Amino acid sequence: MSLLTQIEQLQSTVQEKIDAAADVAELEAVRVELLGRKGSLTTLLRELGTLDPAQRAACGKAANELRQRTEDVLAQRQEQLQAAALDQRLAQGRLDITLPGRAAPLGVQHLINRIRDQVIDIFIGIGYQVAEGPEAELDFYNFTALNHDVQHPARSASDTFYLFDPSGEEHTGFEPSEVVLRTHTSPVQVRTMLQQKPPIYVLAPGKVYRRDAADPTHLPQFTQMEGLVVDRDITFADLRGTMDYFCKEMFGKDRKTRFRPHYFPFTEPSAEVDVSCGICDGSGCRFCGNTGWIEILGCGMVDPEVFRHSQVDSDSYTGFAFGMGIDRIAALRYDIPDIRILVEGDMRFLRQF
Ligand code: DAH
Repeated sequence: MSLLTQIEQLQSTVQEKIDAAADVAELEAVRVELLGRKGSLTTLLRELGTLDPAQRAACGKAANELRQRTEDVLAQRQEQLQAAALDQRLAQGRLDITLPGRAAPLGVQHLINRIRDQVIDIFIGIGYQVAEGPEAELDFYNFTALNHDVQHPARSASDTFYLFDPSGEEHTGFEPSEVVLRTHTSPVQVRTMLQQKPPIYVLAPGKVYRRDAADPTHLPQFTQMEGLVVDRDITFADLRGTMDYFCKEMFGKDRKTRFRPHYFPFTEPSAEVDVSCGICDGSGCRFCGNTGWIEILGCGMVDPEVFRHSQVDSDSYTGFAFGMGIDRIAALRYDIPDIRILVEGDMRFLRQF
C-alpha cells in the first residue's frame, strides 16, 4: 500500500477516534496512539525519509497537514472535555443559598442571674455600686467581725461547711483564721468598709452555702444579695423607705409588704421584711407555710460592734444593711412553688424566662 493511501486511510479515522474519547484520559490515549513515539501517524512521518524525492514532496505535504489537523482536533476536543468535566463538578457541588441555615441553639440567662441583675438595676438606679467577696471566706469576716459570739449556733459544723485548714489541723469552728464556705454575703460588708471610706452605698451579690437539706424553700447552695449603706445621719427611716421602694419596684404595687422585729448579730435594731404570697394571694398555701406572707429579706441598722471590726468611726457614721435570697425572690416573682427546680437544669423550665 502506498504511503499516500495509508495517510488517506488514517485521515479518515482520526476525527472519529478523537470524537469517541469520552473524557480527558481517553483522549490522551488517542493522542498517544496517533502522535506518540510509536503512534501510527509518527510512524508514517518517519517513513517519509525512505521515499524517493518525487513522491516525498506530495506525501510530506499530506502527512504534515494530517498531523496539523490532528493536533488541532485533539486540542479542540480537549477543551470540550475539560469544560464538560468542570460543569459536572460544579453541578455536583452546587450550593443552594436559598435553603434555610441550621440554627445554632441559643442559650438563655439563668433565672437566678436575671433576678440578680434586676435587683442590681433597681439599686444602681438609686446610686449603689456592686462589691464582691470570696466564696471561701475566713471565719473572721463570716462570723467574728459580724459580731457572732463564739457559741453562735451558725458556727457549728452541722450548719456551716468548713474547709480544711491547710495546716491539716482539724477545725474547732471558733478560730478567726479558719476557712468556711461563706454562709451569707454579709462578710462583704466588712471587706468593703475596710477597703473604702464612707459614704458607702454597695450591693454584694453572690453564692452562699449552708448545710441544709434541699426542700421546697431551701437549697444547700443559694444566691444572696447584700446591701450596705454607711453615711452621716442614716436612720431606720432611710432603711424603711429604701426597702419599701425596692419591694414596689421588684414585686409591683399590688403586693403588700411588712416589717417584723427580728434579731441579727450584726444589726441593731433588726427587722425582717415580708411580702404577701403571690401564689395564694395572702390566703395561705404550702409555699408560704399557710401564713400568707413570705419572708424576703433581713435588715437593720449596722451594729457598732461591726463598725469597730471594720474600722468605721461609729460616732461620725451610721448605716443600715440588708440581705435577701435571690432564689426566694425568683420564686416569689414567678410563683415557683419549689425552688429546687431552679438548680435541676431542666431546659423546659429554664427556657421560659
Ligand atoms: N446575713 C443574713 C442571712 O443570712 C441576712 C441579713 C440580715 C443580712 C440582716 C443583712 C442584715 O445585712 O442586715 O441570712
